Amino acid sequence: MSVDQIKTVAVLGAGTMGNGIAHVFARSGYKVILRDVERRFLDRGMETIGKNLDREIKKAKIAETEKGIVLGRLQPVTDMAAIAAADFVVEAVPEKIEIKRAVLGEADGILRPEVIIASNTSSISMERRDIRNYDEAGGKVGEEAGGGE
Ligand SMILES: NC(=O)c1ccc[n+]([C@@H]2O[C@H](COP(=O)([O-])OP(=O)(O)OC[C@H]3O[C@@H](n4cnc5c(N)ncnc54)[C@H](O)[C@@H]3O)[C@@H](O)[C@H]2O)c1
Repeated sequence: MSVDQIKTVAVLGAGTMGNGIAHVFARSGYKVILRDVERRFLDRGMETIGKNLDREIKKAKIAETEKGIVLGRLQPVTDMAAIAAADFVVEAVPEKIEIKRAVLGEADGILRPEVIIASNTSSISMERRDIRNYDEAGGKVGEEAGGGE
């Protein structure tokens, strides 16, 4: 898929990084599906985006009329199935291998095969083999266990 074919972006996690990433994509004209596990986390993320847009208005970085347009591009959801419409995905869930692995696996089963899933991880290797080579408790298992890929 080429960059100009990307119209809708899904952001997984509406926390510190996720709401900032969603904000930037929406400001840049993309439709954004913002997914978190509970409505209260989405509400908090959307509130932060609203406040940050207000700050941009005060600094004359955007027109006041633009706020509603940008917010209108954001679709907060708890239902993971809603990300099926995404052309590009960024995950910004907590830095725990078991959460990353579950989220990436779930997303992989929903998205079209050509859709890229980017990770905001600060320390976890995104090699498929490494993601697989962790047990349920988050402990690393032998190199052999995941096979080579
Ligand atoms: N905060 C930073 O300064 C910073 C900087 C660089 C990279 N990162 C990385 O960004 C990622 C996110 O960090 P953060 O600080 O935004 O975390 P955060 O805790 O602020 O937000 C994580 C959000 O993910 C949500 N979440 C949990 N499970 C989920 C799931 N299955 N699906 C969707 N959402 C889910 C949580 O409810 C929470 O709202 C981590 O990998 C972190 O290492 C953070």
